[in-house]
Amino acid sequence: MRSRTRIIASAAIILVIVSSYLSWKTFERRGYSLSGADGISHPDDAHFTQPTERPGVVHEFVQRPVLSYNEAVEVNKKTCPAEGVNFDEGTVTENEKTKAWRRVTSDKISDWRKNIAEYLDQKQNETQQKLTSESILAADGHGKAAKVGRGIVMAAGDHASVVRARTNIRLLRSYNCSLPIEIFNFQGEISGPDKRLLEELSLLEQRSEDRMNHGGVTVTIRVAEGVQKGKDWKAFHIKAAAIQQSSFDEILYLDTDSYLLRNPEYLFESKQWKDTGLMLWPDYTKSHATNPIWRLVGQQCRNEYEGESGQIFISRTLHQDVLWVAEYFAVKHHQFYGFLGGDRDSFRAAALLLGKKWTGPGRLNAAAGVVLNNPQGGGHTMLQSDPEGKWLFVHANLIKHAQFERPLWARIHRAAQDKFAGESTYGDVHPPNDGLGNGVKLRVVYQPMMSTVMSTFDGYDEAAVVVENWDSYEELKGFEDRWFGFGGAH
Ligand SMILES: *[C@@H]1O[C@H](CO)[C@@H](O)[C@H](O)[C@H]1NC(C)=O
Ligand SMILES: *[C@@H]1O[C@H](CO)[C@@H](O)[C@H](O)[C@H]1NC(C)=O
Repeated sequence: MRSRTRIIASAAIILVIVSSYLSWKTFERRGYSLSGADGISHPDDAHFTQPTERPGVVHEFVQRPVLSYNEAVEVNKKTCPAEGVNFDEGTVTENEKTKAWRRVTSDKISDWRKNIAEYLDQKQNETQQKLTSESILAADGHGKAAKVGRGIVMAAGDHASVVRARTNIRLLRSYNCSLPIEIFNFQGEISGPDKRLLEELSLLEQRSEDRMNHGGVTVTIRVAEGVQKGKDWKAFHIKAAAIQQSSFDEILYLDTDSYLLRNPEYLFESKQWKDTGLMLWPDYTKSHATNPIWRLVGQQCRNEYEGESGQIFISRTLHQDVLWVAEYFAVKHHQFYGFLGGDRDSFRAAALLLGKKWTGPGRLNAAAGVVLNNPQGGGHTMLQSDPEGKWLFVHANLIKHAQFERPLWARIHRAAQDKFAGESTYGDVHPPNDGLGNGVKLRVVYQPMMSTVMSTFDGYDEAAVVVENWDSYEELKGFEDRWFGFGGAH
């Protein structure tokens, strides 16, 4: 009963959104003034409070002034100093050498924005057509269910990623997480045995008595449509398509190597989720003044860490447009991924372009790993926290590149100043948040093995980096045993 009511409610909300959008367009064309509100509360209500401004809002970013490279860098340097800041040094110096970012003309920026706006129009039109035909079907009871409910989305195709997904799901199950899980792969990518390996998780769960007690986990393997590995899409480009094509409305996207420390469902009840319907997590690298992203989104550089996309909470109802823009960046990755760090910063970029706010963790990410001779080295995992600053995700993104000795998770390296002020989180750049992590440098080294070293820049107090034992945090204790126990492979 409840889910049926939710289906109808969500379908109604989507119809209202689409039809109000179409009526703005109609009014816009006819030059009528608008009146009335659609009654939907939007996270960025500031943009939506003036009904008469609505027609322009949809593609407002196209109108933002386009700065030349020099103008932009001049403006951006005021908010994003490079001194003592851990920006993406390799990428930035490479583009200074090749002048690739400098050569992005203002015409190019305008074209990019226009093309994005057109893509949004096209997607909006397609959705409207689909909804119209589905609601006709629904009228006689044969309609497909609208996207509803909460769920977890992953992408896994090759054997190693399937094994990671399995460990990830077993952990979730051990926390009594009841969210359904959809795993996307490219057409023909996943082997028969690997597919069974994942589907088995779902079957086992259905048979177990746990399921009767608390719903259990269901795992569905799906093929990402319209994307092919090796052509326009590389393995990591499947992310935006997977989120887009999943059947959920409130989505937790997880990289297979971003493991949970507890049941993540409480975040869907958090104030931070309710405030924005979009939660993103930071990477180690900070925004840089020369990056074309600022010219593209038409904003001054934010003194903020770039996003990483190992875990994303997103509401489809509120942020369908963010998903479309992220998807567009993926399709046109040759144009955009060079300055979005691959896809890792593409969701933050899409939110900025569309003037949308997000929330996230209450502290910066830490580097976790093994004990090596250099006490600040040995990092292979990004440790990410919840809005309260309690560690939640063990994003083990480097362990696949080297053979580490156990214990794999023994140390944590973090910035001493890593807490967002008051109740604010990642996504809020007001002082003192803009100064978090200043003086802290993170470098990848290749000796004795590929791993990270967190240290301070010359002239900064060494106390800016804190080294702690993994077990000094209650929420981290016992993770390694659980991980291996659930088939973690290293
Ligand atoms: C979307 O639909 C509107 C109205 O039917 C039309 O004017 C517009 O050209 C369409 N846009 C795209 C990109 O198809
Ligand atoms: C999961 O549910 C079982 C059965 O109700 C309970 O014994 C167990 O403590 C729960 N585990 C967690 C992590 O909540």
